[in-house]
Amino acid sequence: MIVVVDFGGQTAHLITRRLKELGSPAALVTPENAIAFIQKEKPQGIILSGGPMSVYENGAPTVDPALFSLPVPSLDICYGLQLRSYLLKGKVVSGTKEYGPVHLTITNHDSPITKDLPKEATVWMSHGDSVLSMPKNFKIIGSSDTVPYAFVVDDIHKQYGLQFHPEIEHTEIGMQILKNFIEICGIKTKEFSHNPEEMIEHIKQTVGKKHVIGAVSGGVDSTVAATLVAKAIGNQFTPVFVDNGLMRPDAVVSVKNLFKRFGITPVIVEVQKEMLKRLKGVTDSEEKRKIIGNFYVEVFEQEMAKLVKKDADVAFLLQGTIYSDVIESQGTKHASKIKSHHNVGGLPEHMKLALLEPLRELYKDEVRALGRKIGLPEEFVMKQPFPGPGFAVRIRGEVTEERLEQEKHADAIVLEELKKAGWLDKVFISFPVMTDAYSTAVKGDGRFFGEVVALRVIESKDIMSSTWAKLPYELLQTISSRIVNEVPKISRVVYDISTKPPATMEWE
Ligand code: XMP
Repeated sequence: MIVVVDFGGQTAHLITRRLKELGSPAALVTPENAIAFIQKEKPQGIILSGGPMSVYENGAPTVDPALFSLPVPSLDICYGLQLRSYLLKGKVVSGTKEYGPVHLTITNHDSPITKDLPKEATVWMSHGDSVLSMPKNFKIIGSSDTVPYAFVVDDIHKQYGLQFHPEIEHTEIGMQILKNFIEICGIKTKEFSHNPEEMIEHIKQTVGKKHVIGAVSGGVDSTVAATLVAKAIGNQFTPVFVDNGLMRPDAVVSVKNLFKRFGITPVIVEVQKEMLKRLKGVTDSEEKRKIIGNFYVEVFEQEMAKLVKKDADVAFLLQGTIYSDVIESQGTKHASKIKSHHNVGGLPEHMKLALLEPLRELYKDEVRALGRKIGLPEEFVMKQPFPGPGFAVRIRGEVTEERLEQEKHADAIVLEELKKAGWLDKVFISFPVMTDAYSTAVKGDGRFFGEVVALRVIESKDIMSSTWAKLPYELLQTISSRIVNEVPKISRVVYDISTKPPATMEWE
């Protein structure tokens, strides 16, 4: 097994997932537990992850320097590399920020870690600090334009370091580097995949004779989770769809159709008006999320009370939480909180429901693969993810009925035009943003001052990184013209060309 020491990087868990994809068992540990874990489990390799802090910050996570001299191959990534340099009296400088794609040149291919690597590659960085000197035994074998110590090796001790992130999908050589490292560790690889039969059996065992209430949204995650539960326990399961008016219009239809197949009737609660009332005057994005999340829980409690009245022994709440939700809501010890996902740990204690989250350790593409295995149709499996707080996080500022209508109208245009042009299946997610910025236009010979819509169309597989879609100009033009002409009070459309990292997919 390879152990990954988690310094709180957004992609620390993704490293373990990549290792498993390549056939190596992997475990994630906190820096505090690293040495004890290594002594007990005797892993064949150690990876130090990235993290959000600088080694110079108070409270920055650290490890016992003894870890650096263990006779086990190691690979340091980003913060992990900086920490090694810092603790072993090298030099780390702050302020050498790079976020997103950079060009790497590999100057020496003698080391086994460089097997089958090209001389040049695009790699993804996400750092504020970088290394300026390493202990003597290390030599530089790859640099970017601004970071000399981008790829370093000490072949004698089988120790390797990267300033960039091999686990990120868009780092072209990332998988090859990890594969080489697994080989260096001498690990015999075997195939890993998520087995739906085992997951269903596990749900059966966990739930026993109790009743499960489940949040469903019509999206891929909650549908895959709900299908597993429906297969496991049939009508011991009550799916609840809270129609708060912030979801895409097709969501409710999807929910009804899905459960028909299992002979289950979902509870659909209509709360559109009340939702808007509660959002009145609220402009802060985190506050919006909290209001939506709390209201959700409130509606849930009411539905649960109804079930209990009918004598159901409700003990579990099913949620379609996946790993990217967990990590963005600060799901690991040293991670930064990016935003509150209302489906992560948002239950009041007095509800006394245990959480059932069968997909908590999976990434989006793994959920999709699982969806296929359990027989969900392809067009459903490939459906775009949609945020839990819905259109509210795509409307900057106050969510009024009028702006919500405009957002939905523009959203329908974007989906329709992408589909017509054959682009819908090629992109991960697409949406307009009501930016709350205003600009001048001339409509019908008169001056008109209206809202700017930003179009965001993104390519990604696992959510942890993404690039903007290179849509044809003609298609961009059609979408822009249609939105400005058809959606009242919109003055112009701009295209968002930011990568993640640093920009998140959603604007809020
Ligand atoms: P970001 O904006 O974090 O988006 O790069 C990554 C994915 O997560 C979705 N997203 C959310 N989903 N609650 C959710 O359930 C949220 O608060 C939330 N914010 C973002 C986003 O749509 C994308 O698929």
